[in-house]
Formats: sequence, structure tokens, C-alpha cells
Amino acid sequence: DNDMPSTIVIFGASGDLTSRKLIPALFRLFQKKRLPEGTRIVGVSRSDFSDEQWRNQLGETTEKFLPASFTAEDWKQFCQHVYYRPGDITKADDFVALGKHLDELEGAACDRVYYLSTSPRLYESAITLMGQAGLADESAGSRRVIIEKPFGTDLASAEALNQSIHKSFHENQIYRIDHYLGKETVQNLFALRFANTIFEPLWNRNYIDHVQITVAEEVVIGRRGGYYDTSGILRDMFQNHLLQLMMITAMEAPARYDANLVRDEKVKVLHSVRPMSGSDFACNTLRGQYQGYLQEDGVPAGSQTATFAALKLYIDNWRWKGVPFYLRSGKAMSCRTTQIVIQFRSPPHLLFPSGKMRTPEANQLVIQVQPAEGLQMYFQSKVPDTEMKTRTSHFDFRFQDAGPDGMPDAYQRLLMDAVNGDASLFARSDEVELAWSIIDPIINAWGSAAAPDLHVYEPGLWGPTESSEWMQGQKRSWFDVC
Ligand code: BG6
Repeated sequence: DNDMPSTIVIFGASGDLTSRKLIPALFRLFQKKRLPEGTRIVGVSRSDFSDEQWRNQLGETTEKFLPASFTAEDWKQFCQHVYYRPGDITKADDFVALGKHLDELEGAACDRVYYLSTSPRLYESAITLMGQAGLADESAGSRRVIIEKPFGTDLASAEALNQSIHKSFHENQIYRIDHYLGKETVQNLFALRFANTIFEPLWNRNYIDHVQITVAEEVVIGRRGGYYDTSGILRDMFQNHLLQLMMITAMEAPARYDANLVRDEKVKVLHSVRPMSGSDFACNTLRGQYQGYLQEDGVPAGSQTATFAALKLYIDNWRWKGVPFYLRSGKAMSCRTTQIVIQFRSPPHLLFPSGKMRTPEANQLVIQVQPAEGLQMYFQSKVPDTEMKTRTSHFDFRFQDAGPDGMPDAYQRLLMDAVNGDASLFARSDEVELAWSIIDPIINAWGSAAAPDLHVYEPGLWGPTESSEWMQGQKRSWFDVC
């Protein structure tokens, strides 16, 4: 029931994600009057704040992160729904006390969303204790739990986490976040593919030569060295974000836009990914580390952790057989850009031969996920006043400004969906496990004696030079455009 009030309980209330993303998103939803009437936000962490202290802290950070839409008046109103409750999520008693406190605060039936924004080490025990304290019981309203990434650190730990969570919560109560799915342009992929007739007939092995998915970041690791060095680019970006983008690009149309039907189709893509073995790791994966990474705080001497990776994956199904999907991501790259390039095949017969005239370039559809949200279609047109020379031209679509703070942040959509009980844009248990089963063998190969070289690259470029050579060796090239 969408009109039932909700309580949103944030565990990890004093953390960075809460002030940087969750509270600003909830504040914007409040301003837009999207949250059900009577919705409360309760922060929980070990720090000993009063309601007032927590509200004041968040007021400052929210103003900083939302300069365009923050007003003191709206904030004051929002704060009437914001509470703080000290608690230690490693203690069973604290959950029991929290349960009583929430019941009193709510006074009547109320839906609840629990947001686990804590250290991932604590997920398993926190969820078990929540179950024991009756916090998953749905007799007085729905009880949903949102779990931040990373969901496990490999297949075995993800399976163990799923098994343990399923003892307290049913799968349909569990919302595993991948914030890329909350991005408007990622959702627009569904619209592009399934609300148009002109793309889908071409969206297959007969017309597409290959697909490139790039998530480039300009930032370096900075102070996140301690976390990052145990994670690396494959766990941090590929197991989740890159594979999500690949699934939505490659999936079949579901019968309806329904959480389970959508996720069934995504999971089929992962089932079809060709497993790598033997020399595949050397031929189809590339790893790099930016120059200077070893000097970052918290990074051990001689670390072999990759901050750049490129993978060539095949999806062995009827639609995609033989079409490589190149996935690439790195830190310390030339700019921040996430884009999906659909590289079409060359025309079957060239009427305008090279030599006198240039070989026409094959069509490209470039889906700009961020920050220049939109898409471009590249095609050949005749150069006026030449005999029959062609050149590359393009259609350019940009999303219009979506409001005072531009495109809404991904967390707005995801929090709203969790409140409304729509799990379409969250990862299901099988999806997360399958994603690990694709990434694990690569991580293992990279840790073995047969690991491909770790290429050191200069910050501010497109990763290691070997990455361009690798593509050239396959008579292809990366779309290196900011
Ligand atoms: C996070 C990763 O999941 O995604 C970060 O842990 C990365 O390392 C971030 O920087 C990128 O997200 P976005 O939304 O800025 O592309």
C-alpha cells in the first residue's frame, strides 16, 4: 500500500554515504512531496547524538551537497520527520530496544525500510540480529532491507551471505543496491531498446560488430587505499556496475516491466557469458595500475592491485554469438565518462572505395550514461560539392535539464522504489552470485603465477597504452572521447 506511512531506518547514520547521498536524496523526495504522508527517518549508529544534534549536522552537509535546492524553511519542515537513536548493531539487546522504540514512534501499522549503510563486515550479523528481534516480521506492515554494495567479496562469501539473510528475510524483502541502476540514463536504456522500433531489429549479431562499455573516472584512490587495495577494480566496478550495464544492453525484452521478469532476463545474460579458461585470461583480459598508486595512503609496498581493467566477454546465445563485449574501467583516466558504444558492422559492399575516397566508417550509437547524459548516432553523409566523398556526421540528443539540481541522483529513485516495494532496479540473489561467478575466475587468474602483466599507466590518459594496442590487434579501436 503506497499510502501507508513508512519508517526509513538508516544503520550507519554517522557515515559518509548517509550525509552525502541518503539524506540529500530523502530531502529532495520530501521537497517533491513523493514520500508517503507521515514518513519518518530514523538514524542509528553508535555515536551519542540527540535528534537535534544529528539534524544540525545533516543540515550543514545537505546544504553543501544540494546548494541549488536547499532552503532553511524546507529543511526545518523535513527535520520534523527526522530522528536519531544511538545503537550498536553488533548487540542483540540494542535491536530489541530499537524495535520497541520504533513501535512507539509509529503507534500504528507502518511500513519499514531498513538501510544497511554500515561496514559490509557487519551485514550478516546485523541481519541475523534483526531477524531475532522480530524486525523482519511483516504483521504490522512491510519490512524491507536495503543492502549496500559490496555484496560479498567473492562467490563463496556472497552465497554464504544470501543463505544467512534468507533465514531472516524473504528474497522479496531484500533490496541489494547497485546505484548505477538508479541512474536515469541507465533506465533510459530500457526506453531506448523497448519503446522504439528502429533500434531493436538491428540489435544483434547480424548488424553489430561489437559493444564497448567504458566507465572511466578521473579520480585517484586518495584516502580509500585501505579499502581499495583489498578490492581492486574488478570487485569495485565490474562485478556490479559494468556487468549491470552489460546485462541491460544485452537482455531480451521481458514480457512486462515487472521486477522478476526483468531480472529473469538479466540473469539469462549472465548464464550465457562464456567462461574463461587457460590462455583466455592472457588474451581476453588486461590489467593496469596508475603510476602513483603505490604511494597512496594505505596501499602496501609492491601491491599488484589493478586500478584499470579491460575484459573481452562473449555472450553465447542466439542474439549475441560471436559479438565481443569489451568492458573497460579505470581510475586516473583522462576524464569522467560512462558510455556504451554500439559499433555496427561496415556496409557489406563499398560503393565508394578507399584510395580516391575514404572508406566509410561504420555506424556507431553512443549512449552517454554520464556526465553528458544523452546519445549520439554517427552515420555517413555526402560532403557537398564533391564527386562522392563521404564523411561522418551525427545526430546528437541531450537530456534536457531535469530541474534545479539537474538529473536526480540515483539514490532518489532507488529509495523511492524500496519504499514502494518495487525491486526491478535492485539485484536479485542469483544475479549477484552469477556476477561473482564471472569475475572470480579472473581475479584468481590475476593472482596466479600465470597472471597477465600489470601495466603501469600514466594518469590522465585512457589507461595503459597496451589497451589501445590490444584493440588495434583486433582491428578495432576504443571510442576515446570525453
Ligand atoms: C562506487 C565505487 O561503487 O562507484 C567507486 O566504489 C566509484 O570506486 C563509484 O568511484 C562511481 O560511481 P559514479 O556514480 O560516480 O559513477
